[in-house]
Amino acid sequence: MKLWGGRFEKTTASLMDAFNASIEFDQKLYKQDILGSIAHAKMLAKTGIITEEEGKAIIEGLQGILKDIEEGKVEFHVELEDIHMNIEKMLTDRIGDAGKKLHTARSRNDQVAVDIRMYLRDAIDEISERLKALLYVLVQTAEEHIDTVMPGYTHLQRAQPITLGYHLMAYFQMFKRDRERLQDCRKRVNILPLGAGALAGTTYNTDREFLKEELGFDGICENSLDAVSDRDFVIEFISDASLIMMHLSRFCEEIIFWNSAEFGFIEMDDAYSTGSSIMPQKKNPDAAELIRGKTGRVYGNLIQILTIMKALPLAYNKDMQEDKPPLFDTVETIRDCLEIFCEMLKTASFNKKNMKKATKEGFMNATDVADYLVKKGLPFRSAHEAVGKMVLYCVENQKAVEDLTLEELRQFSDVFEEDILEKVQIENCIASKVSYGSTAPQNVRTMIKNAKEYLSEL
Ligand code: ARG
Repeated sequence: MKLWGGRFEKTTASLMDAFNASIEFDQKLYKQDILGSIAHAKMLAKTGIITEEEGKAIIEGLQGILKDIEEGKVEFHVELEDIHMNIEKMLTDRIGDAGKKLHTARSRNDQVAVDIRMYLRDAIDEISERLKALLYVLVQTAEEHIDTVMPGYTHLQRAQPITLGYHLMAYFQMFKRDRERLQDCRKRVNILPLGAGALAGTTYNTDREFLKEELGFDGICENSLDAVSDRDFVIEFISDASLIMMHLSRFCEEIIFWNSAEFGFIEMDDAYSTGSSIMPQKKNPDAAELIRGKTGRVYGNLIQILTIMKALPLAYNKDMQEDKPPLFDTVETIRDCLEIFCEMLKTASFNKKNMKKATKEGFMNATDVADYLVKKGLPFRSAHEAVGKMVLYCVENQKAVEDLTLEELRQFSDVFEEDILEKVQIENCIASKVSYGSTAPQNVRTMIKNAKEYLSEL
């Protein structure tokens, strides 16, 4: 008979059993479920709702079940619907009547909510660690490339010269914010719903403060109806995860084209590349492409959970059982992507020569020439026009700005002097960006110093 079978005259159809069950996916929560139940049993014994002996029997029974699950000795049953009822039934089979008392003063509604929150808080901690590892790799790689010159792009057109160190430190800021967002999300995840009962609270004199301490929560859900009704914390997490994937996918996209023969800025290590089954010469950046592709899964998960929760009346509805597949998939996807991305970046080698070569074309020092004229007294618009004409001359004569002689330059403005010839060298263009937060090596050095300080405090 079902744990809830008392009110029923007929058994459920097996078709319904299979459709209704979540055990196939929520068995991932076995540990959280058991730890939550152990705390609950301790609380019931402490408050005299059950006896000390009953409490002890339940706790020992649950510990045995945990061990057996971990050793792969347990089989779950679809007729028992979910992880909560599978474990409860197992407990009663093992210890008898005391097991039937475990579900006093609780409902599966607060039980599942506490399980998910515990799962998610651990997942956030693990993902935060992986983000930290990535931040370290970014700082280390940036430090090696403070002076590695490359084109900076807008519209994927060469725009102004920058350094690779600067580019990498831009991603440092993005992933730093991502980690901070997760930490902030954790504050709202780590609030205890257990003890809320089905929706209205319970008639027992429970001790939720004890449960909170026992299970390591930072607070207790103040309103029990809210505690069992909302999954906004899941949505918040998947939104944060979507931003991480968005950042990863942008970086992957860059890596993919940097790795192409047309760019030749980067070479992926063999360990993180794959070949083609037909074209023997191919070496493809599959890891980066897969991360880019998996971004779609995570966005899909976000839309899934938002749509599941949309317009649900309070409190629990079975729709909410569908929260778990997108949540688990997001956690696993992001965990894998961060790990592989980190390794891929660590093992890649950058081709400084090709990067430098790319800065030779595209007139990326044109803005610097305009700035030079402004400093000699021209209004910026006039300088812009003069340099525009100079670029046209370069295009027509197939020359780079830094190849022009002083005489050639003077055709466009008579304020050009000898010093311009030095100023248009790419390294000088980069070094002359003196504004706060710029690509100049001394600024990137400061960024790296700040980043190291930040990381040492995490
Ligand atoms: N398997 C359910 C879920 O994941 C557990 C909660 C069931 N509660 C209920 N009232 N039917 O959402």
